[in-house]
Amino acid sequence: MRQILPLFFCLGLILSTLLSLGQRVIPILTKNNALVLEVSRDSTVTTAYLGIKLSNVDEYAKINSFYRQAKDYSGVLAAAYSSSGSRNLTEPAISVTHEDGNNSLDLKYVSSSTQRIDGNISLVSVLLKDPVYDFQVELFYRVYFEEDVIEQWCIIQHNEKGNVILHKYASTNLYLKGDKFYLRQYHGDKMREMQPEENILTHGIKTLDSKLGTRADLFMPSAFMVSLDRPSAEDEGNVLLGALEYSGNFRIDFEVDHQDNLRILAGINNYASDYQLKPEEKFETPPLVYTFSDMGKGEASRRMHRWARNYKLLDGKGSRPTLLNNWESTYFDFNEPKLGELVADTKKLGVDLFLLDDGWFGNKYPRNGDSTGLGDWQENKQKLPHGIGWLVQQAKDQQVKSGIWIEPEMVSPKSELYEQHPDWVVKQPLRQEYYYRNQLVLDMSNPQVQDFVFKVIDELFTKYPGLAFIKWDCNSIIYNAYSVYLKDRQSHFYIEYYRGLYNVLDKIRKKYPTIPMMLCSGGGGRVDYAALQYFTEYWPSDNTDPLERIFIQWDYSYFYPAIASSNHVTGWGKQSLKFRTDVAMMGKLGFDLIVNKLSKKDLEFCQEAINNFNALKPIILQGDQYRLSDPRENAVASVMYLDSSHQSGVIFNYLVNNRYGQGSKLPIKLKGLDTTQYYSITEINLYSGIASTLPKNQRLSGDFLMKVGFNSDIRADRPSVVLRIEQVQ
Ligand code: DGJ
Repeated sequence: MRQILPLFFCLGLILSTLLSLGQRVIPILTKNNALVLEVSRDSTVTTAYLGIKLSNVDEYAKINSFYRQAKDYSGVLAAAYSSSGSRNLTEPAISVTHEDGNNSLDLKYVSSSTQRIDGNISLVSVLLKDPVYDFQVELFYRVYFEEDVIEQWCIIQHNEKGNVILHKYASTNLYLKGDKFYLRQYHGDKMREMQPEENILTHGIKTLDSKLGTRADLFMPSAFMVSLDRPSAEDEGNVLLGALEYSGNFRIDFEVDHQDNLRILAGINNYASDYQLKPEEKFETPPLVYTFSDMGKGEASRRMHRWARNYKLLDGKGSRPTLLNNWESTYFDFNEPKLGELVADTKKLGVDLFLLDDGWFGNKYPRNGDSTGLGDWQENKQKLPHGIGWLVQQAKDQQVKSGIWIEPEMVSPKSELYEQHPDWVVKQPLRQEYYYRNQLVLDMSNPQVQDFVFKVIDELFTKYPGLAFIKWDCNSIIYNAYSVYLKDRQSHFYIEYYRGLYNVLDKIRKKYPTIPMMLCSGGGGRVDYAALQYFTEYWPSDNTDPLERIFIQWDYSYFYPAIASSNHVTGWGKQSLKFRTDVAMMGKLGFDLIVNKLSKKDLEFCQEAINNFNALKPIILQGDQYRLSDPRENAVASVMYLDSSHQSGVIFNYLVNNRYGQGSKLPIKLKGLDTTQYYSITEINLYSGIASTLPKNQRLSGDFLMKVGFNSDIRADRPSVVLRIEQVQ
């Protein structure tokens, strides 16, 4: 290896000489933003700028001369990808032990290229190599010009004589300058997902991470926002919004350095995950997706939504079926007659699909509770004597579709699968088993397990081609991480688990490209843009109390578009059926309640709301979302969706504070309208026999609605109001 060093070094020198003569910067540009990399005289690639685009590209090179910050002793503080063991004094993006036991790494510019993928997407790559070791990192930036979105990741490779140990392998090393930095992060648990906290970042390192394996987001997701100079505002200020496209353990370090700049190192969590990289093996990190907005977090979120619908979310431009789920109405207790009624109820309600939840499988260990049967994916003979085919036929007879729940990565300690394949189960061989929801996780790193999981899904679809929906659940986190299959490569487990899972999902999507699948994880324990390439929607929380959901959905909505949010009307909460339905309509509408217990009026209301939802699908599922009034700051929450032409929309308003006299005291300013046009506003989703208190046939200008606003007359006896807004002549 050492003999070929001079070649790398010379190449580096030649290129850096060329660069110093001409190409000093690598601009990575979107419609409104710029990420500018700079190659220094010693071939270090640094970040010169990340923010709003300048009109004159030549001026990026001047930016740094206008900063009078503390001395950068190492010269690599702003490195586009920082290494460890050489000059770097800060948290590294990468840390390795070479084949000869040496821990140092220095990465120098070798080349860069820009490939135009299509009219909107380009791929910038920057190759960095160590001048001493035959080790390289190639940085990739996939640029979505119109959406102002960048996906950034890297591929790590070497040609040393033996394995190199990767101790850390971040996807990105962003570098931001600002007066102050405010981090909006999220924490939670089952039933209280996406609780925001926003704080100033002080010097040192703040880390967001997960070590949970599966359900990696249970306590915190990788989604974050960083606002520059002042805390984030909905419609103003500079905000970077990002999330790691990875479903497993993640780690995001926010380091404010001694120069007061912010470094963001995001990637797979290296916790218990030293990786033995073989010569010539490519280690590809998952992308961090991010967007920057100088118009606040609202615009940043709309950019992310457009990108997700256009490019990432499975069938992002498609529609979504409405459904009736039986989980809350039956739990594990059902049989064919009951299911027959539920299918008939699906038709009566007017939704598209009946979704059979947990409990339909297992015979030796019937799934009559949450401690048995996972893994034994055969119909329970007592509950479904005529099998899933019978259910599919019932649905067909009722002219609705049918779908099924499954939790294929899991196994119950009481299951035939566990008895037959104890070595497929993630557990420490010498330690006592420890359970989350009485279950264990299958070892997805094992190809035999991958085949098993694929076969389970494949057989369901082949045996029952009428099945039109899958709810893919994942309730357990990983305790006692150990894989029999991986033998002495235990530190690869968390990574190989996800390689295995994505491998299965790839195969499923190759064979069944469009069947809608819900990404569920006992609530929002798993939602990210890697998984959403395979799934059409996610389940934000098992907490379906509509008041709680207003808050939970609000913060999820910064990162994920409404079309991906499965919202079900259930019996949870003290609010009316109308309130619950209105809240569920802010995303992909579903129901999980006992339809035959609904009063005539309640049923009529639901039917009418479903009709309204179907008519509003292009607006809610594909439109632009504007947050008008924040439930964390006001007594009224208000969210608006406008269609792509911004001529037609819907506004959801809720009372979120029940203290005496609270309500919409002030008009709420609308957004996204044309100031030169006029609009009519009509209340919809009215409960039968209740008239709207709003004046009829009002014609108001966009100018008025955006400067003065509109009062939806929210108060204790009108706690939920849905408004239809249309441009009129
Ligand atoms: C957790 C999910 O979030 C619920 O909706 C339901 O499917 C149960 N699992 C079933 O066990």
